[in-house]
Amino acid sequence: MKEINVAVTGGAGQISYSLLPRLISGETFGEDIKVNLRLIEIPQVVEKLNGTIMELIDCGFKQTGSLISTSSIEEGVADADWVLLVGSIPRGIVVDGKKIEERSDLLKINGGIFTTQGSAIGRLAKSDAKILVVGNPANTNALIGKNKAKNDSQQWFAMTALDANRAKAQLAQKAGVEISAVTNMTIWGNHSPTMYPDPYNALINGVSAVEVIKDDFWIKNDFLPLVQQRGKSVIDARGASSAASAANAAIDTIKAIENPTLEGNCFSAAIASDGSYGVPEGLFFGYPLKTNTDKTIEIIQGMEINDFAQAKIDTTTKELQSEKDAVKDLLTKD
Ligand code: NAD
Ligand code: LMR
Repeated sequence: MKEINVAVTGGAGQISYSLLPRLISGETFGEDIKVNLRLIEIPQVVEKLNGTIMELIDCGFKQTGSLISTSSIEEGVADADWVLLVGSIPRGIVVDGKKIEERSDLLKINGGIFTTQGSAIGRLAKSDAKILVVGNPANTNALIGKNKAKNDSQQWFAMTALDANRAKAQLAQKAGVEISAVTNMTIWGNHSPTMYPDPYNALINGVSAVEVIKDDFWIKNDFLPLVQQRGKSVIDARGASSAASAANAAIDTIKAIENPTLEGNCFSAAIASDGSYGVPEGLFFGYPLKTNTDKTIEIIQGMEINDFAQAKIDTTTKELQSEKDAVKDLLTKD
């Protein structure tokens, strides 16, 4: 069997508990690929990974390769084909007497983690490594990590697939169709309440979701805020941030990157902007993406952007620009 190396930070966290078995079961990377898993945790928690590893062994998947736990980012990401940066603090918890309410409040706490991790990945992971940032604020963490990695042959992504799945589920429910009927779902911009889940370019059985649903009020006043605030609703209801659905979205993202995108469809993730759709270069921006048969990833061009959509894209761009300004020290310091 071909072997690949997959590193996961935050291996003892909630998302990882749902994510890890699916990485080594053949489901994500294919039945014929053995997955060597490197689990990375902070020193205070790393011992707990022994229990996780026991459970992963007990799953008994034939695709399971070596299983390593470490508190060294360098050891964890060495020769990695994929790096999943999940480890970071979620919102909803109290830090220094203040409850973390917005993902952007996590910038100062989590941003620093991604400097050392980015630098280690740039130096030690494979030259064609793919990196998916899940830890919030995901877009700007990816910006920090890529900036420190200084390795342009590696590809960095920040996760917006959970938002896309949430949006598809709501559109399918409203239209009374199976979720598989909803395609071409783009989340523009930031994984934050300013994201723009695009109902005009989303298709239901090949027709614009807006034309199928024919309820502009619902689209603008129910659908958009529901998707934008879904992370908070889950935290309020569950007392902890989404985990199973986040792990599922990470798996969806890996599969979308590893396999060609069907004609007429797209997948959602944030990547460093190349200036497409007027977004400043370098910002990690959620775009409609496509994986080509040669495995290159491209931003799908020519999506129709009406005035409503442009205003939303401008708002989320502005927010990302201000997040970038807020971490400028982390971007310049060596
Ligand atoms: P969690 O608190 O259960 O687990 C996080 C783990 O990361 C902990 O075990 C912690 O010890 C570890 N960690 C912290 N700093 C680390 C470091 N420097 N190196 C390695 N490990 C480190 O949190 P969770 O529910 O698993 O969520 C993880 C992150 O994912 C949060 O930031 C959360 O907001 C984010 N999230 C993102 C999305 C998305 O769609 N992008 C969805 C859900 C959650
Ligand atoms: C989510 O969207 O569920 C995560 O980003 C967690 C959060 O803080 O909302």
